[in-house]
This record gives sequence, structure tokens and C-alpha cells, in this order.
Amino acid sequence: MAAQSYARPLGGRVAVVTGASSGIGEAAAEHLAWLGAKVAVVARREGRLEDLVARIEKNGGSAMEIAADVTDAARVRAAADAVEAELGAVDLLFNNAGVMLPAPIEERRTDQWRHQIDLNIKGLMNTIGAFVPQLIRAAGARGVADLINTASIAAHNIFPNFAVYSGTKAFVAMEWLTPQDIAQVVGFIAALPPQANLQEVIVMPTGQPT
Ligand SMILES: NC(=O)c1ccc[n+]([C@@H]2O[C@H](COP(=O)([O-])OP(=O)(O)OC[C@H]3O[C@@H](n4cnc5c(N)ncnc54)[C@H](OP(=O)(O)O)[C@@H]3O)[C@@H](O)[C@H]2O)c1
Repeated sequence: MAAQSYARPLGGRVAVVTGASSGIGEAAAEHLAWLGAKVAVVARREGRLEDLVARIEKNGGSAMEIAADVTDAARVRAAADAVEAELGAVDLLFNNAGVMLPAPIEERRTDQWRHQIDLNIKGLMNTIGAFVPQLIRAAGARGVADLINTASIAAHNIFPNFAVYSGTKAFVAMEWLTPQDIAQVVGFIAALPPQANLQEVIVMPTGQPT
């Protein structure tokens, strides 16, 4: 097994973060790199990804950017090949790209419905489909692989105007949580010993009633 230390518990790991050009994904990519993983960052805004990679490398980490639209299955498969060729087989996928477009159902914003379904469901599955062979191989070879999807508390609670979003993944009132909070949780899950399988985590802001 690759070298692992308390300070760099993800040393030797290869991570992919989608939706890494802003918000939760950006913070998670920086945190995973800080924990020692080599990180491939994926989103459409290439300039922001380049800035992120530069920041990670300046802090002593290792990263590569891939400009890709995850709703394009062929593009995501090509991205998976490129990551494996440059960084090695992926053993940690943070499948995070997503969009939340609230609107009353009676407005019939079918464009928004389609956008959320295409990204939050089809994009999510395109990414799983592209990387799961590497994850399975990594799990077989090293005894560990992590697949972490960003869902939402809306999977458990329905909020007005969020019906379609709730259907795709759910909404959580994140205004009390920061991207860094979620980044820490992602790092915590990924850094667990291989025999520990944390299957679901619900991160609630302390100020939010359940
Ligand atoms: N913030 C919240 O309150 C909250 C709460 C619960 C769940 N979430 C979920 O958390 C995840 C991250 O959200 P966030 O709050 O960090 O929002 P954000 O800052 O808007 O990040 C969304 C990310 O997804 C990327 N993205 C959008 N469309 C894409 C596409 N077609 N292909 C590839 N990448 C795409 C965006 O980059 P590009 O535009 O550069 O492609 C961006 O990096 C989402 O899945 C969201 O549903 C957020």
C-alpha cells in the first residue's frame, strides 16, 4: 500500500472532483490535495480550474485540470482515460457537479427541469459510469476506493419550489454551512481506514431545525 501518514492520510491516492471550479467542489479539491491526494479537477470553466491547480501546486499539492461538461458522456469517458494516463487509477471520486434551480411547478419551467435532470442525474451517472472501472480496479488492488456523491437534505424533506431539485438530489439549507465544512467531511470520509465504510452522512447546520 502507498505511503500514508497522519499528516497526509491521502498520500498515494488519486482523486477526481467534479464541479471543482467553485463552491463545495473547489474547497474539497483543495482540501483533498492538502491531505495528500493527487487531484483531477473537472468543470466547464477552464480558467477557474487553472487557477485552482496553480493554487494547489503552490501549496505543495499535485493536480490537473480537465475542462469537461459532465452531461456529455463521451467527454467524461475521455476525461477518465486522461486522468488515469496522467495520475494513475482513480480511487476517490467526489461526484459533486450539480445545479439547483428553484421555481414553482405551475410556472412550468421545463427548461430548468431538464437542466437539473440532465446534470444532477444524467451527469452524475455519466461520471460514475466513466470512473467506476478504475474505482473497482483500485479497490481490488489496494483494498480501498471511495465514491462520494453530493446529495442534499431535500432527499429527506420537500421544500416549496424545489420539487424537481428534490427529485434529482435534494436541497439542504446550506446558507449556514460553508464549502469548507463539506470539504472537511469529504476529507474525513476518504481518510477513514479501508475497513471502515461510512455509507451515509447528513451534515446539518447547527442552526437548522430538523
Ligand atoms: N450550496 C448549497 O446550498 C448546496 C446544498 C445542497 C447540495 N448542494 C449541491 O452541492 C453541489 C455543489 O454546489 P455548490 O453550492 O458548490 O454550487 P456551485 O458553486 O454553483 O458549483 C457547481 C459546480 O458544478 C459545475 N458544473 C455545473 N454544470 C456543469 C456541467 N454541465 N459539467 C461539469 N460541471 C458543471 C460548476 O462549474 P462550471 O460552471 O465551471 O461547469 C461548478 O463548479 C451541487 O451538486 C449542489 O446541488 C449545494
